[in-house]
Amino acid sequence: TGNLTFTMIKPTAVKNNHIGDILKMINEAGFKIVAMKYTRLSPERAAAFYAVHKGKPFYENLVSFMCSGPIVAAILEKENAVEDYRSFIGATNPEKAEEGTVRKRYATSMTENAVHGSDSDENAAIEANFFFSKLERY
Ligand code: CMP
Repeated sequence: TGNLTFTMIKPTAVKNNHIGDILKMINEAGFKIVAMKYTRLSPERAAAFYAVHKGKPFYENLVSFMCSGPIVAAILEKENAVEDYRSFIGATNPEKAEEGTVRKRYATSMTENAVHGSDSDENAAIEANFFFSKLERY
């Protein structure tokens, strides 16, 4: 399995001033930041990023939420990154998220679930390339 994953801190978590806490948790969990930016998604870019979910009942809402404010996008490095990051952030549904996870602490709903984490090595590479050029990475 690969050593990279991709994450976003979503608009509500940014608005609620949780960037610092979440980055601290990420570092303490042993993930190294390879690239990072504070940015925004246009409706077109958000629709493209989440294209795999097109047609699902939550898609439109997710896309509009993800362009409702600034986000932090980052590439993270760690052994077994994708799987470890998913257990670190917790279940998609914050009601099911385990104690001590990012989503347990900061998610306010299924859509506004504080952070995104790639679900496979393949998607991690696609998502990292969506936001970052080679020159923006260490
Ligand atoms: P994320 O990891 O960014 O990937 C897809 C997102 O869709 C997910 O987090 C949730 O924020 C959002 N979403 C909203 N409703 C659902 C749902 N019922 N099942 C899965 N994902 C959902």
